[in-house]
Amino acid sequence: MRKIFISPSILSADFARLEQECKSLEKCGADWIHCDVMDGNFVPNITFGMPVIKSIRRCVVLPLDVHLMVDKPERYIRQFAEAGANIITIHAEATDNVAETLKAIRSCGKKAGISVKPNTPVEVLEQYRGLFDLVLIMSVEPGFGGQSYIESSATKISRAKQLFPDVLVEVDGGINAQTAPLVIDAGVDVIVAGSAIMGAPDRSTVIKNLRGTK
Ligand code: DX5
Ligand code: ZN
Repeated sequence: MRKIFISPSILSADFARLEQECKSLEKCGADWIHCDVMDGNFVPNITFGMPVIKSIRRCVVLPLDVHLMVDKPERYIRQFAEAGANIITIHAEATDNVAETLKAIRSCGKKAGISVKPNTPVEVLEQYRGLFDLVLIMSVEPGFGGQSYIESSATKISRAKQLFPDVLVEVDGGINAQTAPLVIDAGVDVIVAGSAIMGAPDRSTVIKNLRGTK
């Protein structure tokens, strides 16, 4: 059986206790920590940036999976790399310089991810083949936690796996005990979950269940 990675999103964390929240995720069996960076332009919401990533880096050893929902992310790649990101994912819709930005991520020694919003077909990524290590399929409109999973995402995940068999396929948005089996059946490698994990009293059990192990 293939390994399913769980990347809890700290978007739904208690930011006043971010250190304890991140350490709790590490203790509860998370594989990565998903950090949602929002700029108020690419998405309507604003979250946090490099200083917070840098602080989280000091608290945990888990890989930091940084999801940049930011216009023209090429402006910030080096800074996020230096802050301690391990995987840096940009949006295909966020820049006219996708290929250069993916190359910049790799030249900083980091894994490069590329994401598509629900209405962007995964086929647009074919032109960047070979330049990324991960495809992130958004299964909600980016911007907010706690939204409902968009049904058509499973088909998009299978298509991504078929087009790019050598890269990790990650899903983000509305994943919980009900929707996780749908994306696992579709072939997903990495599951992001915010509210399903952060809102649960027993995070280890939720993480195990999402992964499909008991
Ligand atoms: C949404 C973010 C997600 C969000 C997921 O734009 O990219 O990572 O935290 O939250 P849930 O799991 O609650 O849908
Ligand atoms: Zn995200």
